[in-house]
Amino acid sequence: MEEKYVERASAHLDSITRLDFGFYPTPIEELPRLRASLSANAPRIFIKRDDYTGAGFGGNKVRKLEYVLARAAADGAQAAITIGGERSNHARATAMLCARLGLRCILVLNAQSGAPKSATRLIDEMAGAEIHLVGSRDERRTRAQAIADELQGRGVRAAQIPLGASTPLGALGYVRAARELALQIDRLNLRPDCIFLASSSGGTQAGLLAGCRIFGMEDVQIIGVSPDDPASSIAASISTIIGGIPEMLGLPSDLFDGEARVVDDYIGPGYGLDSVASKEALALVARCEGVLLDPVYTAKAMAALIDWARKGRFGRDDTVLFWHTGGQLAMFTAPL
Ligand SMILES: Cc1ncc(COP(=O)(O)O)c(C=O)c1O
Repeated sequence: MEEKYVERASAHLDSITRLDFGFYPTPIEELPRLRASLSANAPRIFIKRDDYTGAGFGGNKVRKLEYVLARAAADGAQAAITIGGERSNHARATAMLCARLGLRCILVLNAQSGAPKSATRLIDEMAGAEIHLVGSRDERRTRAQAIADELQGRGVRAAQIPLGASTPLGALGYVRAARELALQIDRLNLRPDCIFLASSSGGTQAGLLAGCRIFGMEDVQIIGVSPDDPASSIAASISTIIGGIPEMLGLPSDLFDGEARVVDDYIGPGYGLDSVASKEALALVARCEGVLLDPVYTAKAMAALIDWARKGRFGRDDTVLFWHTGGQLAMFTAPL
């Protein structure tokens, strides 16, 4: 990309209102013992530790919410409302960051009746979030809208934060992360050929795609691994989100063309349900490297990477970067 666009994008990234709550740069580490355990031709594997973004137990939501909640606060919101599953990392991060911001937080969560309370929900409560439980995913949006309408009727300004904070504004957090990565790989003398990450509402992958294009990593393949939806629907969300990025960064609107690469072969029995490969990935990475993945998202993305390595889909001279997006709390239930 032309130098003038790189500078312009960078200046916009820094001038758009943002909370500075996370710890950056998150570390990059090599996983040599995982590589050795896979196959003689496995690529070099590195991991970007966005499970260490810090605020509210870290994960990928922090970078997105830093932009989205800053905008809500700047617009005078007195409350933030968002939706998710009972173990939602997005809901937890929203609750924790709202606590830090002094903003009232309302969460509409779908939960199975009779299931034990998750550690995530306990933390939502500890952060002072008001929780409304509904029986299914489909009911979340209407309930959130009803709460927003009711608050508005009482003169309370409430900002609705979309699922996963996956808007063009939220994705700027990952454009910024790509800029951070560009500096790190320069310093470490690394040239990743490929980035693997878990991708669902699409904001993380959209931001990374745009950021890699802007900050000199055009050739890096970015492979999103779905934990839930069909690849085509995630790719469509990514393309909608990415379409809103150029305007915010003062770039030409046709800057990002082409389809995002998303694979949906590693979902297994369904969202939040272990597959044989995801259980193996979780155990292997912990045993070889002392790194804990989460069962819902990153274990499935790592299962994809491992499978590709075993099938010889990388060259031995390739370098693969696995982006750890956090979420390990999903493994725990609240103490009785
Ligand atoms: C741990 C974790 N990884 C990855 C993702 C996917 O990120 P995105 O929704 O930006 O595609 C999520 C989203 O819920 C998540 O919680």
